[in-house]
Amino acid sequence: DMPILEQCYNLVDFEAVAKQVMKRPAWAYYSSGADDEITMRENHSAFHKIWFRPRILIDVEHVDTSTTMLGDKCSIPFYVTATALGKLGNPEGEVVLTRAAAKHDVIQMIPTLASCSFDEIVDAKQGDQVQWLQLYVNKNRDVTRRIVEHAEKRGCKGLFITVDAPQLGRREKDMRSKFDGIGSKVQDTEDDNVDRSQGAARAISSFIDPSLSWKDIPYFKSITKMPIVLKGVQRVEDVLMAVEYGVAGVVLSNHGGRQLDTAPSGIEVLAEVMPELRKRGLENKIEIYIDGGIRRATDIIKALCLGAKGVGIGRPFLFAMSAYGEKGVNRAMQLLKDEFVMNMRLIGANKVEDLNPSMVDTRGLFTH
Ligand code: FNR
Repeated sequence: DMPILEQCYNLVDFEAVAKQVMKRPAWAYYSSGADDEITMRENHSAFHKIWFRPRILIDVEHVDTSTTMLGDKCSIPFYVTATALGKLGNPEGEVVLTRAAAKHDVIQMIPTLASCSFDEIVDAKQGDQVQWLQLYVNKNRDVTRRIVEHAEKRGCKGLFITVDAPQLGRREKDMRSKFDGIGSKVQDTEDDNVDRSQGAARAISSFIDPSLSWKDIPYFKSITKMPIVLKGVQRVEDVLMAVEYGVAGVVLSNHGGRQLDTAPSGIEVLAEVMPELRKRGLENKIEIYIDGGIRRATDIIKALCLGAKGVGIGRPFLFAMSAYGEKGVNRAMQLLKDEFVMNMRLIGANKVEDLNPSMVDTRGLFTH
């Protein structure tokens, strides 16, 4: 007996439904993390080590949840992050996420390894809806250059280069499930002799260039005017390097716990990064995003208190889409928005700019 959509009261509820209705290999690909999935679990539990320090008697009748990311307006400080292979969960694939994002004025990051073609996803956008491109850098730089130039031409507003995946992590659930292939149109043509015995992730990722390094960043800056963001930064020193290389932003992320197991969670890294940036007067030189394990508006608010400009959310929208299609994603976004307004009121903030480090107690993060 599957719950009806109205019985999903929070983002985690969608996961249980998706697990019941999805084919095993698809479920395995979406839900898996690397190795023992310790990082994947930590992405959730790290938020529980942070406590609020709410203000009272602040006028919170009107709460404004809007903000900007990379200079573009959006209704709320979360975005749909890039997740590959949307058609494993829904026959229409990523355009389902595009439509829901349009309805809620939420930014969508388009994955290199989408099941729909890049153009199908851009064609599905409405009006001046904002989309970004997530880039896996191909060993063949001409392929990569064409992807980037095309994305800019089609109006993408940000280039997120994934830097935490020189090799794909081992996701054993996925490897065991014998993926039989709904490939990605963007990269399919590159390599038809992929080894599908190693699960979906391995099958589609053989083109990724493990030699990518800091030396390549000026090249990307030279081929595009889109702001460049490094996705998958995991320590302070690399954020400082990113500032030196003049990129617009970083996403503190461990790829949803799918890459290096026992890598730290984004929220924990954020708590270390912001004081170091402030100490050097660099906090306005770069936008800091995090993703991983964000399931509640309180998680988003904690990240913003600590200095994040916004947060990415992956699996919950995939599960909502797999369980209920576009209606599911709409409801997931609406639930988060309602939670966000309520919790802003309860913490004593009526706009995003009011959130600051004094509103959270992070001592629990540093006493392991
Ligand atoms: C991802 N992620 C990801 N990241 C990326 O840069 N390129 C990609 O192709 C993918 N693909 C992908 C597929 C699936 C099924 C998942 C779950 C994740 C990582 C993603 O962008 C993000 O970092 C995490 O999903 C955030 O964690 P949560 O919200 O899923 O916990």
